[in-house]
Amino acid sequence: MMTTTTATTHILHRQMAHTLPVAASAQGVFITDTQGRQYLDASGGAAVSCLGHGHPEVLSAMHAQMDKLAYAHTSFFTTQAAEELADLLVQDAPAGTSHAYFVSGGSEAVEAALKMARQYFVETGQPQRRHFIARRQSYHGNTLGALAVGGNAWRRRQFAPLLIDVTHVAPCYEYRDRQSGESAEAYGQRLVAELAAAIEGLGGENVIAFVAETVGGATQGAVTPVPAYLRGVRELCSRHGILLILDEVMCGMGRCGTLHACEAEGVVPDLLVVAKGLGGGYQPIGAVLAQAFVVDAFARGSGAFQHGHTYLGHAMACAAALAVQRVIRRDGLLECVTRQGAGLRERLVAAFGGHPRVGDIRGRGLFQAIELVADRDTKQPFDPALKLHARIKAQAMSEGLMVYPMGGTIDGQNGDHVLLAPPFIVDDAQLDMIVQRLARAVDAALATAPR
Ligand SMILES: Cc1ncc(COP(=O)(O)O)c(C=O)c1O
Repeated sequence: MMTTTTATTHILHRQMAHTLPVAASAQGVFITDTQGRQYLDASGGAAVSCLGHGHPEVLSAMHAQMDKLAYAHTSFFTTQAAEELADLLVQDAPAGTSHAYFVSGGSEAVEAALKMARQYFVETGQPQRRHFIARRQSYHGNTLGALAVGGNAWRRRQFAPLLIDVTHVAPCYEYRDRQSGESAEAYGQRLVAELAAAIEGLGGENVIAFVAETVGGATQGAVTPVPAYLRGVRELCSRHGILLILDEVMCGMGRCGTLHACEAEGVVPDLLVVAKGLGGGYQPIGAVLAQAFVVDAFARGSGAFQHGHTYLGHAMACAAALAVQRVIRRDGLLECVTRQGAGLRERLVAAFGGHPRVGDIRGRGLFQAIELVADRDTKQPFDPALKLHARIKAQAMSEGLMVYPMGGTIDGQNGDHVLLAPPFIVDDAQLDMIVQRLARAVDAALATAPR
C-alpha cells in the first residue's frame, strides 16, 4: 500500500506537504504501518491511548454494544452504557461532583464547560458575569470558544478577530519564570497575586470563571504547578464567587498517577473537563464533570442546560470508555502509572540529565517532557526557524518511535520540547527502548540543526 501525498489523497491532512505512513494495525504499545514498520507509541498519539491498542476487553465491550445498539439520540433515550459510565465517573470524581455531561472530545467538552459556567450565573441572577480569565501558553482546544480561552499564541493568531475577549495571565512555568532566589512557594503566590490583580481589573463580580490545565500539556509539555499555587487560585476564585474550570483533557484520567490530576493538588474544581484517556482512543469521547451546586441551579431554574450535539452520550463511545475505565481500576493501572512514570523519569534523567542541549526534564506520572535549549546556562532556546521539534519528530519516526514534540514552548514562537505519554501498560524493556530511541533521535536532529 502506498503512502499519501497531496497528489494521491483527497484528505485535507494536517500538513499538506507531508507524507504520512498508513497505519494498518496496532497491538499493545505498537502501531504497525502498511510497510510492516512498527512504531512504539510513546506518546499515546497525543496522550490518548492509555490502555495501549487492541485491548481485548475494550474491543469485546464495543462489539457487544454494537450488536445491541450503536446509537440512540439523547433527546429520545438514555442508554445503560452512558448511565453506568456516569455512575462510575461521579463515584470516583472529586467531592461534590454529581453529574457528567458526555460529548465527543476535548474541545467540545471545554465549550460545554464554558457555556455551563455562563448559564450557571444566568440561572442564579448574576447575568453581568461575562469574562473568562485563562493563562498564556495554555491549550484548551481548537473550536472558537476553546481557542479563545487558550493562550497558545500561534494557534490563536490568525483567528484572533473571531475570538471572544479573554484575559490571560501567566502560566505556572517554574523552569523559566521562577526568579533566582525566589522560593517555589513565593513564585506560586506571585502568580496568584497576578490573577488577583486581573480579577480586580475586571471586577470580581463580572468574572465567570478561571480556566487552567492542572498540568500544562500540548503547548508547554508536562508543566506541573508549584505546590500550593492551585490551592491559592481555588481560594481566590471562591472568594469572588468565580468558578474554577480545570481542563484535564490531557493530564487527567490517570495520566499523572491519580485519576484526576487535581487530586494531587488538593483542589476541587467546579467543572472538571476530561477527554483523551477517558476513552483511550477506542472511541471519541469527552466529558464535563460538574459539581452538584451547578447542576442544582439548572434544576431549580430553567430545568435544562441549553446546549447539545447530535452525538452527546454516544452509546458506542460510552461503552468503550466504560470498559477502559473498568480495566484501569481492576488492573490497578494508576499504581503502574506512578511506578513506570518514576522509571521513565529515571531513564530520562540518566540519558538527558547531563545533555548539553536539554535544559529541563519535567512532568508527573507517565506524562513527562524534556525542554531543548541551545545553552543550558542561559536557557537560550534554539532559533525557531530550525524547527528542532519537527526534526526530532521525523527522526523519532524513523527510529520507530512516536513522541509528541512541539515548538513555541516559551511564548508561542520560541522554545522546543518533547512530550512523552506512553500507555499505562508500558513495561521496563519498552521504557528502555523509548529513551534509547529518543536519545538517538534528539542527537540526530541536533546534528542536522546548525547553531
Ligand atoms: C488540555 C487540552 N484541552 C483540550 C484539548 C482539545 O481536545 P480535542 O483535541 O479532543 O478537541 C486538548 C488537546 O490536546 C488539550 O490538551
